[in-house]
Amino acid sequence: MKIEFASARPPEADVLAFIVTKSTFEGFQFPLDNAQMVQDTATLARFKGEAGQSFLLIAQEGGKLVRIVLLGVADGDAGDYQKAGGEIVAKVQTSGAKHIVIHAENLSAKAAAEAAYGATLRNWRMDKYRTKLAETSKPTVEAITVVGAADAAAIWPNYAAIADGVALTKELVTEPANIIYPESFVERCQHLADLGVEIIVLDDKQMGELGMGALLGVAQGSRKPARMLVMKWDGTGGTQQRPVALVGKGVTFDTGGISIKPAAGMEDMKWDMGGAGAVAGAMKALAGRKAKAYVVGVCGLVENMPDGNAQRPGDIVTSMSGQTIEVLNTDAEGRLVLCDALHWVQENYNPEYIVDLATLTGAIIISLGNEHAGLFSNDDGLADKLTAAGKASGDLLWRFPLSKAYDKLIDSPIADMKNIGARGAGSITAAQFLQRFIKDGVKWAHLDIAGTVWADKAGPVWDKGATGFGVRLLDRFVADNFEG
Ligand code: BES
Ligand code: MN
Ligand code: ZN
Repeated sequence: MKIEFASARPPEADVLAFIVTKSTFEGFQFPLDNAQMVQDTATLARFKGEAGQSFLLIAQEGGKLVRIVLLGVADGDAGDYQKAGGEIVAKVQTSGAKHIVIHAENLSAKAAAEAAYGATLRNWRMDKYRTKLAETSKPTVEAITVVGAADAAAIWPNYAAIADGVALTKELVTEPANIIYPESFVERCQHLADLGVEIIVLDDKQMGELGMGALLGVAQGSRKPARMLVMKWDGTGGTQQRPVALVGKGVTFDTGGISIKPAAGMEDMKWDMGGAGAVAGAMKALAGRKAKAYVVGVCGLVENMPDGNAQRPGDIVTSMSGQTIEVLNTDAEGRLVLCDALHWVQENYNPEYIVDLATLTGAIIISLGNEHAGLFSNDDGLADKLTAAGKASGDLLWRFPLSKAYDKLIDSPIADMKNIGARGAGSITAAQFLQRFIKDGVKWAHLDIAGTVWADKAGPVWDKGATGFGVRLLDRFVADNFEG
């Protein structure tokens, strides 16, 4: 879908969208042949321009029938403009309409760009595996023209870059596990090199030499060899000494291993690489908009399978840090992957901040459902920065505690630690496990995104399926705290 900016409505437009507020709707001067009829029809349908309201009608314009969409927003709320843009697309994506105009004469450049951004995000879908999609179910919208917001074009490229990052994440998350596995995940990210991202890939042999026994223990039951994907973006010209590290859990499929999961719903575990997907998407967004920050993204990529060579419950593995782990449950594999990735990035990049993202525990879904991701941090300042970035971006976070008492729950009688706690506080003990691999003085946060990566119903800026969670959050976190 093309996004264009223009001063006048192109004649081929067949959807005309207007974004109004409660106070501007009354007396709004619609630049339409049947302005009064549109106003009256919407009012009759009880559309008042309230935030979140929308209304679609068909009217005569320039001698042909067009769709007219009205959206209500709260004035100045960036999120509302995004939602409005998303709602326009949701209403007409498969309607037969081809060309949307967002009438932005009454909007600021920022509001207009936010609306185009929301529309772009909401428009993403994957149809490549549908060979028999009915004509009436096919997307038809080819272009959006934003009319009348003179300076929106200048700020649009930043939004477009973030939307491209979100799209990459949605693609990686949506692809099934026979298509996206560690090696093919890496291949799908190679194009970030074109944006100036330096890409480094460690294969299983190299990881073995480095002593990543925890990550490789998970991978050993799979025919698919493990990979570690490292993406480095430095937009500071070397002035930021220590990078921000983003670390993602990339379990391309999680059967549970020998501690196998029940069959029902197991297909969801194709998106157990959502943390890695978010890291890749965030790197694409940052590089795409040439962020003035130094950021290193690391994805620990494995497949967790049961097999004659799979690790067994009770196995003891040695992580790259030297700490030993009793693997009591092979389904608590994400922490085993992350601990080696976390140690590796600290050894090699000396980051000042680390944010890891992982679909780590089912327990976080019990706690927070699908509305917030869980936030765990050893640093209040970092937690506050992430919480604020979450609110501003729409990727919401809610903080949980960490403490010595929780940490004790993963002590093992035979090794340095075990990979599960007792029944209670499952998301917290998982975070405590990760914290054992964070060096003193490093500011670290862990985001448990198991509940927010995938949606059973459409949201404001995503269709049902992959949400792209994390990309907008990380982009915002970097923009607000590291770009001066
Ligand atoms: N990938 C799962 C967590 C998960 C579950 C994500 C449901 C999304 C939906 C993770 O690897 C896992 O299996 N965690 C276990 C940990 C337990 C064995 C301590 C869990 O949450 O049940
Ligand atoms: Mn698991
Ligand atoms: Zn998992």
